[in-house]
Amino acid sequence: MSKILILDFGSQYTQLIARKVRELGVYSEIVPFNTPVARIRKKAPGALILSGGPRSVYEKGAPLPSPGVFELGLPVLGVCYGLQVMAHLLGGKIVPSGKREFGFASLKVLDRKGLLAGVRDKRQVWMSHGDKPERVPPGFRVTASTPNTRVAAVEDRERRLCGVQFHPEVIHTRDGNKILANFLFRVAGLEADWNMASFIKRKVAEVRAAVGRGRVICGLSGGVDSLVTSLIIHKAIGDRLTCIFVDNGLLRKGQYHELMENFRRKFSLNVKGIDASEEFLGKLRGVIAPEKKRKKIGGLFIEIFEREAKKLGGADFLAQGTIYPDVIESNPVKGPSSVIKSHHNVGGLPKGLRFKLIEPLRELFKDEVRALALELGVDKGFITQHPFPGPGLAVRIVGEVDREGLDILREADDILLHEVRRAGLYRKLWQAFAVLLPVRSVGVMGDRRTYQRVVVLRLVQSTDGMTANWFPVPAPLLARISTRIVNEVRGINRVALDVTTKPPGTIEWE
Ligand code: XMP
Repeated sequence: MSKILILDFGSQYTQLIARKVRELGVYSEIVPFNTPVARIRKKAPGALILSGGPRSVYEKGAPLPSPGVFELGLPVLGVCYGLQVMAHLLGGKIVPSGKREFGFASLKVLDRKGLLAGVRDKRQVWMSHGDKPERVPPGFRVTASTPNTRVAAVEDRERRLCGVQFHPEVIHTRDGNKILANFLFRVAGLEADWNMASFIKRKVAEVRAAVGRGRVICGLSGGVDSLVTSLIIHKAIGDRLTCIFVDNGLLRKGQYHELMENFRRKFSLNVKGIDASEEFLGKLRGVIAPEKKRKKIGGLFIEIFEREAKKLGGADFLAQGTIYPDVIESNPVKGPSSVIKSHHNVGGLPKGLRFKLIEPLRELFKDEVRALALELGVDKGFITQHPFPGPGLAVRIVGEVDREGLDILREADDILLHEVRRAGLYRKLWQAFAVLLPVRSVGVMGDRRTYQRVVVLRLVQSTDGMTANWFPVPAPLLARISTRIVNEVRGINRVALDVTTKPPGTIEWE
């Protein structure tokens, strides 16, 4: 299978390069900029891409690739800082731009034989850099310029090394896809052999080989990732997969029964439903701190899986719906703090876990998981559902979680979602949910004084959950939601709206 390795020098666009390359049909992986040459060789890529980055090559401590990268004989594309680093190390000269250049520029193509084949003149490209090459290294020639940047693209055809000073991966570069495709197929001669159908085939074979005659259990969370994980494993080993769907009492109204029905009827999965709501509530009694809630919930999930595995006469494998953004080794450019995000699907796995892990989606971006889900027959409504946190409503009840609070919150949340759907807004939003506060306020209903709890409405837009904007909900809709909640949900007499962006807020309250 064709493969591209992307050396990450810390650009905000690195993941975008990886996704674009995959969209063009070539598998790509992101690795730290200083990945040793031996490790690169072991991964056997067909070509390398050096990402952009925030630094200058002549700064002290500037990130440089491991020595020998350019002697591997692999085709290389340098993007922005990636080009500068390549030019710098191969004998060219990088200087600060007189003017830092951010934004659009018009490209003048000087040579259309390789990387820039089919790219029209005066096409808009997206620049974002403070340095530029002044002299190109021996063997290279300039293949495009812009009014402010003489060296906008370079190529060494002999060694199959090339670079662009602009960002072909961003949508503002008009022929960006063409340039990336030229690199993959013309310069590097790779094949477009990455697609979801071939992925399924490969994974099914891998799972079969790994599991042998063993048994696998997979916790279903109600989200797309764990369902797709189960469907792939089911394809591989049939009913030696047992799915476990735990009713932790922290789900939304009706969610448990609806999902069980779906898993069994539609997908013929072997699903064991377990009502553990009492147990979860017991563990959460008296717990206030959000992180402690998460840990208790995660720990109990694992306990339940282990217990069920024993009942099944021992399962050796635990399947998880971990996806690529959870496992990308963040590059050290940004500091050690960003090294590998802990998986929070099940609240982080404990040490000494008795299972071997199976994570068939480890290589996939979210969009790819969605495409895979469609390929496997999951309906669109399920795929486009809003994210729901693993610890469920427990992190939407500020303070102690108890049954009464959960019942109140479920009703309020149900009304909110119903009205959001009715207004045709569901798909426009990343999430819409209610949060229950541990405060009471005075109200008057009929002629009677009330002293009841407050819910907060949170409706946000986001593309990846990393940043978010609160959604300006139309006043008539807010009015309907608020009136319905106060009238219909016993125990709530006040509704508030959260108007905080992320950052500095987070999407969830805990
Ligand atoms: P925050 O609150 O950090 O959330 O802005 C970002 C996105 O992640 C979801 N989220 C979680 N998902 N387990 C999960 O599976 C968790 O513990 C968790 N915490 C937050 C959240 O719903 C939002 O979409």
